[in-house]
Amino acid sequence: MIIVANWKAYVETTEKARTLFSRAKKIAPKTRVRIVLVPPAPFLGMLAPKNKSSVAFGAQDVSTMPGGAHTGESTAQSIAGAGASYVLVGHSERRARGESLADTAQKISHALAHDLIPILCVGERERDTEGKYLAFVREEITAALTPLSPKDRGRVIIAYEPIWAIGKTAADAISPMDLSEMILYIRKVLAEILPGKSSARTKVLYGGSVEPANARQLAGSARIDGFLVGHASVEPAQFVELVHAIS
Ligand code: 13P
Repeated sequence: MIIVANWKAYVETTEKARTLFSRAKKIAPKTRVRIVLVPPAPFLGMLAPKNKSSVAFGAQDVSTMPGGAHTGESTAQSIAGAGASYVLVGHSERRARGESLADTAQKISHALAHDLIPILCVGERERDTEGKYLAFVREEITAALTPLSPKDRGRVIIAYEPIWAIGKTAADAISPMDLSEMILYIRKVLAEILPGKSSARTKVLYGGSVEPANARQLAGSARIDGFLVGHASVEPAQFVELVHAIS
């Protein structure tokens, strides 16, 4: 299992960033769960370069641009150079600010060129009775993966994060049965896009109000490889509890 802690912009002080990192460092050697911390960019730059622990780091976003005269952009090369191994792409909070399907695909290709593992976030805004949300998720995956070579398609992690379930509580998160169904559907889509049987190796995560109260049940019910966690990942005690819950 893998747990990706997306600190979003919840963490705004050096003290808080250090506290969360030291908690993660402490539990990482005692669990088989792979811990990936995804801090805001300044804290990635502060924590990741000197990191010798078994905790891995990721960035919350990456530029669509290569290096050059692009003020404000963080390129894949600079993120990899800072010590990140992963990068979130297509997060709904970035898509809401104008990231297009083409932008997401571009980000993935820059990330892979610099050996960053892209975590592609997909998920519908709401559910309907005709199943349009399935076509929506299919399109997000297809648009991101089909421009890649068959080999590179297998290097992308998929994180299913339905927008309606983000930032709420365990009670509002997806039900184990609905998650199970969606993961099967995503695996079917992946099997159509990836060569041979390689899609079986693709990691598929779930995100959206994962808390200690629902993590174990969600992990047990669906064929998922881990979680992408927002608010519960910035409360040190809850995060430790979460790691134990899915261990
Ligand atoms: P929450 O866990 O706060 O719902 O956030 C999920 C998410 O968006 C992680 O990327």
